[in-house]
Amino acid sequence: MSLILDHVGIAVACLDDALALWRDQLGANVTEIEVVESQGARVAFLETDTGSTTELLESTREDSAIGKFLASGRKGVHHLAYRVDDIEERLARLSEAGVPLIHANPVAGSRGTRIAFVHPRGTEGVLIELVQYPDR
Ligand code: CO
Repeated sequence: MSLILDHVGIAVACLDDALALWRDQLGANVTEIEVVESQGARVAFLETDTGSTTELLESTREDSAIGKFLASGRKGVHHLAYRVDDIEERLARLSEAGVPLIHANPVAGSRGTRIAFVHPRGTEGVLIELVQYPDR
């Protein structure tokens, strides 16, 4: 097993405002902007020269995870996403260990990925996303 940091997810109130900062002021390269229905979010992926990725997430409905996060008065760093190639096995392993899962089974993510979130109650307070890319 290996674990690769895929991206850092940041919750933003307004994606266009956030892009004005990250893209126009900080100089990040926007690679994708996509609505992810399963997450109730419009997301932008930003890449830097080193290939590291930042995801900006704007809520598209009040009852989405990002909508609730922002409504609770929080904002900013929301989750860390780790890339895996065996997402079902990882979820089964975590479940067997008693780690609470938000998604017991993968759901559709952006860019054709399958994703699942692990509950921060079981992860030192950090919301962790597992992401598996489609086979090439
Ligand atoms: Co993410």
